Amino acid sequence: MSKKNFGIAIAVIAVVAAGFGAWMVMIPGPTAFASGSTVALADYKDANPTGVPKEMANADLIARGEYLTHAADCVACHTAKNGGQPFAGGLAFNLPNIGTIYSTNITPDKETGIGNYTDAQFLATLHQGKRADGQNLYPAMSYTSYTYMTEADALAIKAYLFSLPAVHAPAKENKLSWPFNNRSLMGIWNAFYNADERFRPNTAQSAEWNRGAYLAEAMGHCSECHTPRNLAFAMNNRKKFAGALTGGWRAYNITPDQKAGVGSWSDNDLATFLSTGHVDGHGGAGGPMGEATDNSLTFLTAGDIRALVVYLRSVPAQDSDLPRTVTTPAPVSHREGVTAGLDSRGEKIFAGACASCHDWTGVSPVSKYATLTGVRAVNDPSATNVAQTIIAGVDRTTVNGKIFMPAFGTAYSDDEIADVANYVTARFGAKGASLTAKDIASLRKQVAQQ
Ligand code: HEC
Ligand code: HEC
Ligand code: HEC
Repeated sequence: MSKKNFGIAIAVIAVVAAGFGAWMVMIPGPTAFASGSTVALADYKDANPTGVPKEMANADLIARGEYLTHAADCVACHTAKNGGQPFAGGLAFNLPNIGTIYSTNITPDKETGIGNYTDAQFLATLHQGKRADGQNLYPAMSYTSYTYMTEADALAIKAYLFSLPAVHAPAKENKLSWPFNNRSLMGIWNAFYNADERFRPNTAQSAEWNRGAYLAEAMGHCSECHTPRNLAFAMNNRKKFAGALTGGWRAYNITPDQKAGVGSWSDNDLATFLSTGHVDGHGGAGGPMGEATDNSLTFLTAGDIRALVVYLRSVPAQDSDLPRTVTTPAPVSHREGVTAGLDSRGEKIFAGACASCHDWTGVSPVSKYATLTGVRAVNDPSATNVAQTIIAGVDRTTVNGKIFMPAFGTAYSDDEIADVANYVTARFGAKGASLTAKDIASLRKQVAQQ
């Protein structure tokens, strides 16, 4: 090859590689799927999609901040498990192969919390993922979602947080492997994956859609759990809401796809599920979703929930290899009816520890929340969320009262948990799971812990 041709070949390779690289790294924005064009918020003529709902228009700054703090669910990540003080941090995020990151104290304590944060520093945290000392945060903090929040809403949240009692709670030390222990690297990541721009309403969509988009993207950060991530841990909006494994739990496909998503749910079912964390026929919100409903979505007005549903309905349907929901008829009501092929140790555990609440039919005599038939988790042959529910139990405070299931994670070995999870999915779901003790050990590790 002549020198010149060689040069051209290199140039072509470079352009192709850059193009491919760009496709890999440049990801469309979270609302880019919607047709129509966007304008800056100030130029939008319809009802303001940001801020608090109209019922609260006259509320004071702190009350507005409280509503928005609920909508953004800051408490979920900034509170340690098992009785941690709200907003005092210390929840561990265990990222396989990367290490452990702890959330920090965001109460107004001046020494260990954010009591010295100025407005500008607080905005830089939510919009750019920067701490007060200028260091980059890791994207375990949802700033790539909060970046779409208006300044006014972010500062209302700050005002609310600053109205809470200061808690003295020093940060725990992260345990990250090289090269992830280098915060400055996140600067490069941010250049690719943090849009650092505020929400832009879409003039071709309804005001309700825009409100739903703002609530889902800038506030409730549904994508952080429900959108699969690419190799660089950035949310891949080309597969928006197609489902992902997050913190050891499966956040299901919530696109309008009939088979893989929630296309077959009625609007009312979706609204009821989001605002109460349960809907008959589809089951309860488990694990991280139970936290999202009970700490956050429950506090939203009916109008805001409707807006979220309108927005959810509009995202492109995504097929996925995640299993579809199957509503199974209740099996025979006595254990004698159980046919061969079921794991007998699993059955024994079920008889002793589970049947009193869940019944042999799977239709709970105790609480509608505990009915297992028709529930997605039970119909998911990976049984991820079934296993997690058995390990962690359930301790939810919902609008309909306390919902409780004991945690079996310490009482049972990994083998036993695998057996009973396999039994439950075989008996009440579409297809039995085949979890092993090793799978259970790995699921335990991925969960956010204290
Ligand atoms: C998905 C989990 C998650 C959510 C939701 C979340 N955070 Fe965070 N946040 C974190 C983690 C983890 C860190 C620490 C990251 C690090 O050390 O790089 C953090 C760090 C911070 C910091 C930096 C504090 C310091 O150490 O100086 C502030 C401020 C903050 N978050 C505020 C908020 C606010 C306000 C909200 C709600 C609008 C919120 N966070 C919601 C996970 C979360
Ligand atoms: C912290 C992670 C997290 C966040 C944030 C989150 N979800 Fe979920 N979501 C989950 C998990 C995990 C499940 C499965 C729960 C289960 O098995 O019961 C789920 C389940 C659901 C389901 C039921 C799906 C089905 O087929 O049963 C819907 C609907 C849903 N989420 C909507 C939303 C919306 C809308 C938002 C944003 C407002 C949101 N989620 C935010 C983790 C999350
Ligand atoms: C004291 C009553 C009680 C006992 C005992 C109990 N559970 Fe539960 N279980 C519940 C309740 C209540 C829920 C609903 C949680 C929700 O809606 O968030 C639940 C939820 C579940 C779910 C998830 C359902 C969903 O909607 O995603 C599974 C799976 C499950 N239990 C399995 C078991 C197994 C296996 C055992 C025995 C090892 C057991 N449970 C023992 C009360 C109980």
